[in-house]
Amino acid sequence: MNWLGAVLAVCVLVPSAHCANSAIAWCYHEPSCNDTTWPTIIGKFCNGSRQSPINIVSASAQVDTNLTAFTMVNYNTHSLKNITNTGKTVKVSLNSGVSIRGGGLPGAYNSLQFHLHWGNGSSVPGSEHTVNGKRYPMELHIVHIKSIYGENTTQAVGDSTGLAALGFLIEEMPGDNIGQPAAWNILSSYLSKIVNSSSSVAVTANISLNDLIPGVNTTKYYRYLGSLTTPNCNEAVVWTVFKDTIKVSKDVIDKFSQIIYVTNSTSPHVVNNFRNIQPALSVTTSSTAKTCYSLGLMALTILLGRF
Ligand SMILES: *[C@@H]1O[C@H](CO)[C@@H](O)[C@H](O)[C@H]1NC(C)=O
Ligand SMILES: *[C@@H]1O[C@H](CO)[C@@H](O)[C@H](O)[C@H]1NC(C)=O
Ligand SMILES: *[C@@H]1O[C@H](CO)[C@@H](O)[C@H](O)[C@H]1NC(C)=O
Ligand SMILES: *[C@@H]1O[C@H](CO)[C@@H](O)[C@H](O)[C@H]1NC(C)=O
Ligand SMILES: *[C@@H]1O[C@H](CO)[C@@H](O)[C@H](O)[C@H]1NC(C)=O
Ligand SMILES: *[C@@H]1O[C@H](CO)[C@@H](O)[C@H](O)[C@H]1NC(C)=O
Ligand SMILES: *[C@@H]1O[C@H](CO)[C@@H](O)[C@H](O)[C@H]1NC(C)=O
Ligand SMILES: *[C@@H]1O[C@H](CO)[C@@H](O)[C@H](O)[C@H]1NC(C)=O
Ligand SMILES: *[C@@H]1O[C@H](CO)[C@@H](O)[C@H](O)[C@H]1NC(C)=O
Ligand SMILES: *[C@@H]1O[C@H](CO)[C@@H](O)[C@H](O)[C@H]1NC(C)=O
Ligand SMILES: [Zn+2]
Repeated sequence: MNWLGAVLAVCVLVPSAHCANSAIAWCYHEPSCNDTTWPTIIGKFCNGSRQSPINIVSASAQVDTNLTAFTMVNYNTHSLKNITNTGKTVKVSLNSGVSIRGGGLPGAYNSLQFHLHWGNGSSVPGSEHTVNGKRYPMELHIVHIKSIYGENTTQAVGDSTGLAALGFLIEEMPGDNIGQPAAWNILSSYLSKIVNSSSSVAVTANISLNDLIPGVNTTKYYRYLGSLTTPNCNEAVVWTVFKDTIKVSKDVIDKFSQIIYVTNSTSPHVVNNFRNIQPALSVTTSSTAKTCYSLGLMALTILLGRF
């Protein structure tokens, strides 16, 4: 990837300090550049019509029998490569060979990276998607690119289904648990090595993506066509938000808002790094996620056609 391509890709998918130094200076934490200003200061696609994140109203999600199970390749192998403080989030790049297909996706998609959104400690929630109006403490996004594009995100964002993002809502684990689950505890132990923005370190621990999503039944999910939740907000993302949450202990959740700085210790910590809810879109759901509704209520929902 050439220099321009690399910078573009980084700015599009995982905004970093470098982007702020060039033309694009957006943020979460200041009125002059927070998400309410993105349509003005960034323009491009942030004022579009299929923007993410959204509030998912479970009772209005229409069952789509095309939303079958995913095939997740190498989700059970040691695939975490390198963890970076981008100044906006914590991003983990993945080794090649991790991919997904099925799940109603139009083809195969290769996994590129995952990153997180959080609030300010477990008591101030910071997920991007909300479900029935509820915001969760954190959200994990695993970002995939349609395999025909290789790693060329410039090409992928020109395709309305060029990227596939898997969203996992993170909840506080009940009880007096510390350092759970183990994979999340190990992941969070790297944060103290990347306190300043643009710092990164190799992830040597043998952690798989499956280790990070324990207890999530991946056949149960919501689906809609949306956008990147960061500038340039390209409308190129097939969104999957899983119904089951990941349970993580409070001490691990709290670390993210307490350790990572926007730039360095002279700046604020990265907190509330989520975009506000965008206008509702048509949401579908896998039939396995819809077990709690009677046929009668389901028919009514579909007849009304409400989103
Ligand atoms: C990515 O695609 C764009 C647009 O087609 C092209 O200009 C660019 O050279 C490609 N980058 C790489 C690294 O192949
Ligand atoms: C975001 O910016 C707008 C003005 O641009 C301001 O009204 C609002 O309070 C800001 N929100 C946060 C959380 O800073
Ligand atoms: C969205 O932003 C683009 C670029 O700034 C602008 O051309 C367009 O008119 C805007 N659309 C709306 C609906 O505001
Ligand atoms: C399911 O897939 C078929 C074949 O691709 C398509 O014709 C149909 O519209 C899809 N159903 C829904 C609810 O999207
Ligand atoms: C986040 O929480 C800490 C500790 O409770 C508090 O000192 C800080 O002001 C909060 N930050 C924001 C932006 O609310
Ligand atoms: C981690 O990846 C970034 C690019 O995302 C790279 O600049 C950095 O050198 C890598 N760090 C390590 C420790 O491999
Ligand atoms: C990682 O752990 C798995 C078992 O959990 C093991 O099968 C695999 O060989 C380990 N990989 C490495 C590189 O140590
Ligand atoms: C810390 O970040 C500020 C910008 O927020 C910068 O001006 C300063 O040079 C940085 N300090 C160090 C030691 O890098
Ligand atoms: C982080 O930035 C501070 C300046 O605020 C500096 O003193 C410190 O050495 C930096 N830490 C690392 C690990 O680079
Ligand atoms: C996932 O949920 C479906 C539907 O409820 C169920 O049939 C299946 O056994 C579950 N899978 C696992 C691994 O629990
Ligand atoms: Zn994200």
